[in-house]
Formats: sequence, C-alpha cells, structure tokens
Amino acid sequence: THKIILDTDPGIDDAMAIFFAFQSPDIEVLGLTTVFGNVPVDMSAKNAITLCKLAGKDIPVTKGVGMPWVGPESSYAHFVHGEDGFGNIDYPAAEGELDPRSSAQFIVDMARKYPGEITLVAIGPLGNLALALRLEPELPKLVKGVSIMGGAAFVPGNVTPVAEANIWNDAHAADIVFSADWDIAMFGLDVTNTVRFKEAFVDTLAEKNEKLGGFVQQAAQFYIDFYTKEGEERVCCFHDAFPLAHLIQPDLFEMTEGNIRVSTDDLNRGQTIVAPFGSTASPLWTEAQTVKVATKVDAERLEALFIDTYAK
Ligand code: BDR
Ligand code: CA
Repeated sequence: THKIILDTDPGIDDAMAIFFAFQSPDIEVLGLTTVFGNVPVDMSAKNAITLCKLAGKDIPVTKGVGMPWVGPESSYAHFVHGEDGFGNIDYPAAEGELDPRSSAQFIVDMARKYPGEITLVAIGPLGNLALALRLEPELPKLVKGVSIMGGAAFVPGNVTPVAEANIWNDAHAADIVFSADWDIAMFGLDVTNTVRFKEAFVDTLAEKNEKLGGFVQQAAQFYIDFYTKEGEERVCCFHDAFPLAHLIQPDLFEMTEGNIRVSTDDLNRGQTIVAPFGSTASPLWTEAQTVKVATKVDAERLEALFIDTYAK
C-alpha cells in the first residue's frame, strides 16, 4: 500500500478524491492537511473533518496556509463549489478536533517518522508544501515523491488563458515546490480536463456506495451546473482524483518529462511553463527540476477504477 498525506481544499472534487483514497485498499491516508483554495482555510479544515467523520475515518486533520506566499489576497471558488464548499447542500458540519500542528509541520513530522515512504498528494494550492520545504530543507530526501493535481502543461488554463486554479492561487509557492529536488508527477488540465464525467457516473457512485457516493452525488449537482453548457448533457470534471488513480494504476496514464517553472508575473501568473526534456531552453528552465507530466489518460478504465473502488 501507498502511504500518503492528502493536501486538500475541500471542495467537491476534493471530497470525491478523499473518499476514493479512503476506499482504496492500495492507499493508506496518514492525514488530511488542509489549505485555502476553493474555500477559506477554516472552512477547508472543517470540511475535511466532516468528510472524515462521514467516512468513519479517525485520522489527523490539520489546518494550514490561509493565504498566498506573496499577495494579492486569496480569492475563492464559491461559484464552482458553493458557499459551503459542498455545493450548498447544507450538510451538517461534524464536531471534531483539529490536530494542533500546522499542515506544514505535520508533513515534516510524518516524513521524519516514515523516511522514504510517503507520497505527498497535493490537490489544492501548494502553500503547505512550500512551507514544509522551508521548515525542513531535507524534505525531498525524506519523502518518496510528490504527486500534484495542478497546472496546464500543453493546454489552456481554467482561471486565465494560461493558468490552472491550484497553481494560480499560489504561484510563488508552486514555483518553490516545482523547483525542489524531489520526484514530482504533475496531473494537470492536460488530463483532468479531457475527461467529462456524465451525471450517470455520479449516480452510479451513489448506487454503489450510498453513504460516500451519495454525498458526492448530492454535492456534485451545483458543480455539474457549473460545468454544463446550456442545452448540453450534464457533465463535470473530477480533477483531484487523478493523481490518486495514478498511484494505484500508473498504466492508465501516458507521461512525458520536462523542466517546469511557474510564472509569478502578473499577466501570466500561475502558468506552468514546460521545457520538454532535452530542450535547449535557457538554464532558467533546463536547470530546473525534471518533472513527470501526464499527457493522456484512458478515460474508460479510469471511470471503472473509480466505480469499482467506491463499490468496495
Ligand atoms: C482544481 O481547482 C479546484 O477548484 C479543484 O478542487 C481542483 O483542485 C482544478 O483546477
Ligand atoms: Ca482541490
């Protein structure tokens, strides 16, 4: 099994991904570390506790970074995920204690406790990982790898023409994380935006797993409204589950390699600029860390993996 820490900003696709990880026999979730992103960090932390309680998972939940590394102020995605982060379903928030540590401190502590064993799976903005790198510069040697939902390597962004939301939300932090000397795999819009899950998929999750799938089905209605073009079939994207699927079944994906820098300039803030492996780009890129970038996914088998795992 893969030991992971799931760094998250729940969030509707976050919820779907968290339950997928909980359900998978191949994944052991050591804790949920929360960060601002879709919602403010207090709500992100509270939502993570609610999801753990709903799933009957007694694992640490930490609160982390609440604002970008460098301004401007955070902006949230309530228009995608609802006022509550769960599509305005009025789901009662569970009572529960946060782990007293910050998300970054928790990541460092766990990495020291299980050296070389943990994969950090980041499905929100990257402030917690950047801060953990500052707290423990040896962190890259202490973890097995980093798997990120974020960025847009060879396709347009979803917040600006060039930037994906997680990276755009904290571009400076993202550049720190992409430049660190660890084994990084990036699952960006190149793959996550190509798979449009139909409403019937969400209904199937609910059929297979009344409690967890049922929650996703309810929460996803608002999210599907956001993704669906007028007059067209109801669909949505489940971005955040992709890096987890790769851990379990890497052969679902085609990957390429490149050197990535994240732009922190105003106009193209959050752009993940890729110098393909072996390119003659300037040292600014070629001396950057080599990153694995997902370029293609087998949508049918991916969908089957999600459904089978929810059914367990
Ligand atoms: C990413 O942004 C958030 O809205 C989603 O939860 C996902 O992590 C997609 O761009
Ligand atoms: Ca997310």
